[in-house]
Amino acid sequence: MRSTAPIIILGIESSCDETAAAVLVDGVVRSNVVAGQAVHAQWGGVVPELASRAHQENIVPVVHQALQEAGIGKEDLSAIAFTQGPGLIGALLVGTCFARSMAQALDVPLVAVDHLRAHALAHFIVDTSARPVPVFPFLNLTVSGGHTQFVVVHSPLDMEVIGTTLDDAAGEAFDKGAKMLGLPYPGGPLVDKLAQLGDSSRHPLPLPTMPGLDMSFSGLKTAFLNLLQRGVTKDPDFKTKEQAHLCASLQHAIVQVLLKKTSTAVRQTGIKQVAISGGVSANSGLRTQLGALARAEGWELFAPPLAYCTDNGAMIAMAGHFLFKARHFAGLDVVPRARFV
Ligand code: KG4
Ligand code: ZN
Repeated sequence: MRSTAPIIILGIESSCDETAAAVLVDGVVRSNVVAGQAVHAQWGGVVPELASRAHQENIVPVVHQALQEAGIGKEDLSAIAFTQGPGLIGALLVGTCFARSMAQALDVPLVAVDHLRAHALAHFIVDTSARPVPVFPFLNLTVSGGHTQFVVVHSPLDMEVIGTTLDDAAGEAFDKGAKMLGLPYPGGPLVDKLAQLGDSSRHPLPLPTMPGLDMSFSGLKTAFLNLLQRGVTKDPDFKTKEQAHLCASLQHAIVQVLLKKTSTAVRQTGIKQVAISGGVSANSGLRTQLGALARAEGWELFAPPLAYCTDNGAMIAMAGHFLFKARHFAGLDVVPRARFV
């Protein structure tokens, strides 16, 4: 019997404000290191120039730590996978140049990964959680700070976007709403926490309506701003006193849109394997309510562990694993792409 060498992939992520690296051996995660960038909190959002500089500082120690924790030497790597885009161009440049140089120095293949496709493949990262994984073709709701889309995942390399936000992403609605409340960036996790203490029916928000599978969140942002302005006019301490209820209202409105559209997507496609990924898929309200909807409507929901929801290197290595198996390699002259369309 012929024994095949394991596929050992180093995945590098630098598309926004997380510098991350992970090592996967035959799809099994051996390390997953994420360095956040606290520098943005004081600015209320990601400052691209500061993000690039922080990546530059973090990338060597983060990759070093990922290899060390995995117990893998550089010379053992089968390939280096990196995020080619979409994302902030200066941030992507850091990861791309680093991956290109490392692949050249080690003389191993380089694999260019689409960040959004990687989010949809995060379900397949094998770890100790022994969770079920979706069967192809499945429907993936990718909800992050930059994107909100429904994707039919036909296979690891064949994906079709069937619905998207026409303006802001769901994560952006969380973050901007949080900023209006005076909460630091990124606001999504804080809104999630505070919403659990609030009552969403005290300050109801109008739900945006869009035809088909497309979505819009910018109107919701304006409605939330108007709600806050009306409240502050009557009571200057409105935002503080009502903070938890306001977070609950904001989260409720965003989640309701996603629930309604997911229902429509299941009906339209007939696909009953539904998965969520991206930073907003860490939201406790979304996870619980989508789970309940799945049971009520008779479809199955797959949600990755929280560590693979927000940006991480393991999902890049996972996508890299599939691309490596298909021998989809990038040239050493590969360049990052802020957008793919
Ligand atoms: O996938 P991700 O890490 O980066 C992008 O690709 O954009 O997503 C980041 C987004 C941010 O908007 C953040 O506020 C949001 O995910 N997020 C959450 C939660 N955790 C992260 N939003 C709501 N509830 C959460 N628990
Ligand atoms: Zn992401």
